[in-house]
Amino acid sequence: MADGPESEDRRNFIRIAVIGGIGMIAAGAGSASVFIPPSIGDSAAPGPKPLVPMIKLGALAADKPLTLQLTLSVRDGWRVRNRTQTVYVLRTGDGEGAADFTALSSICSHAGCTIEHREDKFVCPCHGAEFELSGKVTKGPAPRDMDPLPVSIAEYQGAPWLYVDWQEFALGTEERIPGSSA
Ligand code: FES
Repeated sequence: MADGPESEDRRNFIRIAVIGGIGMIAAGAGSASVFIPPSIGDSAAPGPKPLVPMIKLGALAADKPLTLQLTLSVRDGWRVRNRTQTVYVLRTGDGEGAADFTALSSICSHAGCTIEHREDKFVCPCHGAEFELSGKVTKGPAPRDMDPLPVSIAEYQGAPWLYVDWQEFALGTEERIPGSSA
């Protein structure tokens, strides 16, 4: 069926819905999925993933982390399965470049639970570890700060996006050792 005004309206609605969703997150009111664009190739391959368009980060308040769901394709032999992982993005500078943003993994270094954002701190719901918004651990049993993820800015579809290089680290260690958190 040919594209008509209806499908054009639908595309516009979807675009607006995504923008609206991210605005709500910036206000700390929820979360949204950010889909890895299929044109970037094999998302099971290691390497940075486009996380959020920079234009959405412009109004990010310095003390309000943006909660995002990063969709990852995980290759297991011949099988590829999708999994979502929460990532928190904070503005730590004037917002001009990648160095002005920090991305934090939500995986708790104690036993791998998902750390949650609560008002002015992060809290792990499993055994009560707490972290400052910077990711610094303030209450155990998490043995180390939240794991920072490398970020960069690159162009996608003619606009700058913040990319995150998803990484996992060993659980239960003070030292950050690259590896699986499974
Ligand atoms: S898994 Fe987070 S405190 Fe235990």
